[in-house]
Amino acid sequence: LPSAALIPAAGAGTRLRLGPKAFVEVGGRTLLARSVAALAPHVDEVVVALPAGWSLPAGLPARSIVGGATRQESVRLLLEATAAEVVLVHDAARPFLPARAVRALLEAVEEVGAATVALPVADTLVRSEGRNWREGVPREGLWAVQTPQGFRREVLTRAHGAAHEEGVTATDDAGLVARLGLPVALMPGDARLFKVTTPGDLALAQALAAVWDA
Ligand code: C5P
Repeated sequence: LPSAALIPAAGAGTRLRLGPKAFVEVGGRTLLARSVAALAPHVDEVVVALPAGWSLPAGLPARSIVGGATRQESVRLLLEATAAEVVLVHDAARPFLPARAVRALLEAVEEVGAATVALPVADTLVRSEGRNWREGVPREGLWAVQTPQGFRREVLTRAHGAAHEEGVTATDDAGLVARLGLPVALMPGDARLFKVTTPGDLALAQALAAVWDA
């Protein structure tokens, strides 16, 4: 089936304070270029949502559209911009994407219709009250959800359509599918797929880039 990677990269990078995050470099390459390069070999096309006024750096095997006001809106616009039957949605802010994860995801989409990579939570979890410990939360059965996430086109279209109509927002796409009662497979994620969000994450990404590119 025709496939596309959709990369929401239209965020302002407010928490990092270095301008649009997708254009921040680690190890001499932008987060966006790293994400595009990791996905392009696995799909027929790559489409990127960019902030208004920005354009794709020359030489990236991708085309771009202008993103929306939220990540969710950016993904909805990306979906409208492709005719692919299988779509992978991946945050530009997760630049270290192992090929193994992409392949596993594509297989799961074929079987289940929707899938995401995720990691079992390793830390102790607590619900707070202000800055105080209120109660521990058993971590058994809890996962931290990453991207990429993969979908049959009609599944993601339906999920975004319903969320849009009902004014529902979510921080990822698999969550929008799951709330319709449709199955979402959890595939083994990777610690290196962390999202670069804070200056601390960026330092970690700089260190990892040296190993990744070696
Ligand atoms: O802000 P956060 O790190 O959660 O954003 C996740 C991804 O969604 C980033 O790659 C960001 O560029 C993208 N995004 C977007 N459009 C927005 C906001 C965020 O494509 N309006």
